[in-house]
Amino acid sequence: MNHGNRSTGPIQSPHLPLGDRRDAPFYGRDILEVAQFRRADLQHVFGVAREMREMVTRVGSFDLLKGKILANLFYEPSTRTASSFYAAMERLGGSVIPINEVRYSSVSKGESLPDTVRSLECYADVIVLRHPELGAAKEAARYARKPIINAGDGIGEHPTQALLDLFTIVEEAGRIDGLTVTMLGDLKNGRTVHSLARLLSMFDVKLRFVSPDSLRFPEKIRDELKEQRIAFSEHGDLEEVLSQTDVLYVTRVQKERFEDPQEYKRVQGAYVINNETLDRARPTMVLMHPLPRVGEISMEVDSDPRAAYFRQMEYGMYVRMALLAMVLGKA
Ligand code: NCD
Repeated sequence: MNHGNRSTGPIQSPHLPLGDRRDAPFYGRDILEVAQFRRADLQHVFGVAREMREMVTRVGSFDLLKGKILANLFYEPSTRTASSFYAAMERLGGSVIPINEVRYSSVSKGESLPDTVRSLECYADVIVLRHPELGAAKEAARYARKPIINAGDGIGEHPTQALLDLFTIVEEAGRIDGLTVTMLGDLKNGRTVHSLARLLSMFDVKLRFVSPDSLRFPEKIRDELKEQRIAFSEHGDLEEVLSQTDVLYVTRVQKERFEDPQEYKRVQGAYVINNETLDRARPTMVLMHPLPRVGEISMEVDSDPRAAYFRQMEYGMYVRMALLAMVLGKA
């Protein structure tokens, strides 16, 4: 969101619709990276998400965002993120301009990102953006007057996913402090783990990173964790940490980020979680995956009560409902 030369502080919209709350946390703000959130903000998001769940369970949809429009602008494929934002907006009584296939929009004519977002905000109140380039959401926010929500910027961040991941952990494990969280797979290119590790570093957790050597966690984030004095260790073999793991967060090898298809083939099947793996895991372990999976968790695991990845998707809709309500000043 471009604040022009205004001083910092609450955003003074000249066109504040009746009922909008200027003092609501995150009102009118972009959501670009997890560093914007403090622990108290997370409690607030999760509190609102629980209210959303309650309302959806009781009445299905309600009119909190009636009259508001979301532009869902996706330059990369998406099933869950795009449709959960869509469902979130609809369940809150708002509507959506879906632009999933940018090749059918003016982007294919060579329109720049700043121009596309400045056009869409003429019609919409908030823009959800997924883009292949790192920093794209920040770039869009520099130009846009309306809030931009980062739905994944290349190998950068995926803050709303990290929020729903953390909400899943709280709801499934009952706490965050004291947990050992193991992240497995493509830790170099996976934006979900980049955001989640940063978010978890606000808590008293132990992190375990398991990956092929070529797909280790980026040094920059490892340095940030060291600065925050977060206990973490890196491993090539899951067995080294499985028995101490409270939350196992599995990721896909991010094929689209590889320049060399041979290199992708070399690392692609590196880890597979199956029932045998779970036999050696804690009975209370929470098994998560942002999805899509492409073989890292075999389907036989789905019926194990520890498999939380489909519940994780549902938590995602409530968290995104909460975020939309917050940036639009209704929560
Ligand atoms: C993730 C993404 O797009 O980063 N998917 C998602 O949003 N649930 C993970 C992935 O694509 O592997």
